[in-house]
Amino acid sequence: MSSEASGCTESTSPVAQDVRRFARALDAFLKTVQGTGLGGDVEAMVANQRYPAGAVPPLVQQHFSSAAQLATTVNPSLSALVQALAALVAQLHWHKRPSDGSDAGFDQGHFNAIIIGNAGAVAMGPLLVGVSVMAPGVTYPMHRHPPEERYVVLSPGQWWREQGGWWTPGIGNLVHNPSNQLHSMRSAAQAHLSIWVLTGAGAAGFASGS
Ligand SMILES: [Fe+2]
Repeated sequence: MSSEASGCTESTSPVAQDVRRFARALDAFLKTVQGTGLGGDVEAMVANQRYPAGAVPPLVQQHFSSAAQLATTVNPSLSALVQALAALVAQLHWHKRPSDGSDAGFDQGHFNAIIIGNAGAVAMGPLLVGVSVMAPGVTYPMHRHPPEERYVVLSPGQWWREQGGWWTPGIGNLVHNPSNQLHSMRSAAQAHLSIWVLTGAGAAGFASGS
């Protein structure tokens, strides 16, 4: 369906164009790896101006570029996706995940940004796509949510899932967490970088991250 046919106004803002480029690259990568893409109409995304770009936090400045370079060196098939992501870094609204204050290392060592979703730069139906950056030696809190989640692994480090324990998926692989399954991830000696894709009921409304 075209944006006109859907009743939406297609944005021509630079942010929307860069997000569309990113979404095309992510859609293509997912189709290559798992056979199915984002499951939505990438060309009909609608601009959402509620979250203008914020400043790029020092932690992201410090770790994003080296992590992105490592990802494409280890797995060149990620090049288009990582380049499209890199073009968005300075245009996203980076934020901390809400915390209970029990892990200062996580609180100080991570940032998330939503790219596609109701709280992101661009909305695209029932879909939430975001990015996480963590400094070395940081563990993401164990959590669960109704939408199922796929991570595009862009760094070394480990993932954890209920009944599965810790494992190392490797750069360029996908991690699939079914609906409501407890999960986590942690960086090791190198920074963590991942894209997460949430789908299913309520996904687009998530505002804080994966
Ligand atoms: Fe999650």
